[in-house]
Amino acid sequence: MAFTIAIDGPAAAGKGTISKAVAAHFGYAHLDTGLLYRAVGAKVIVGIPAVQAAKSLQASDLDDSTLRTPDVAQAASKVATIPEVRAALVDFQRAFARRAGGAVLDGRDIGTVICPAADAKLFVTATAEVRAQRRFAELQGNGLDTEYETVLADVKERDERDMNRADAPLKPARDAVLIDTSDLNIADAVQTAIAIISESQSVG
Ligand code: C5P
Repeated sequence: MAFTIAIDGPAAAGKGTISKAVAAHFGYAHLDTGLLYRAVGAKVIVGIPAVQAAKSLQASDLDDSTLRTPDVAQAASKVATIPEVRAALVDFQRAFARRAGGAVLDGRDIGTVICPAADAKLFVTATAEVRAQRRFAELQGNGLDTEYETVLADVKERDERDMNRADAPLKPARDAVLIDTSDLNIADAVQTAIAIISESQSVG
């Protein structure tokens, strides 16, 4: 039976980690939808027009180690404001969400636009400072030479663009359960998410 879990939230709130752990716990497939926008952003950086890039996206384009860099993240949030880019990515995401074995999708508009009828919806958030600190540690861990202040400015700029775009802005669905991970460690955040989802499975 298809069971769809939508996990949305701003950059570096912990939704990727939570989504992977939730998918592993329930044995569901996981799609990080940010990767789709990152793959389009990466193509724009090398000169391919955004809409063309979105329409011709291949699964192999997601398998690119440069997709996690801050430059690609910024390019992704820019192409994500273009309605034709978003429209080109809808069918793939919805088909993934309907997989027979269950699916977890994380992104910005999964609970609001892509899967408004998802069986469970979470909105994972944290303060911009905590998110920037986490992203800073992650980038440093990957050997990237950067500064906390730069990462914080980057996170705030992306939040601003993601929340204020006209098409599918970042916001919690009305029926999403909020998890603020500012004061939670990874294990507690994952446990909280699993408990909320298990609850919706038992009532659903
Ligand atoms: O989640 P991640 O940081 O990889 O997403 C990169 C960018 O892609 C976001 O800043 C956002 O602009 C865009 N995005 C989106 N809708 C999604 C997922 C990501 O607009 N469902």
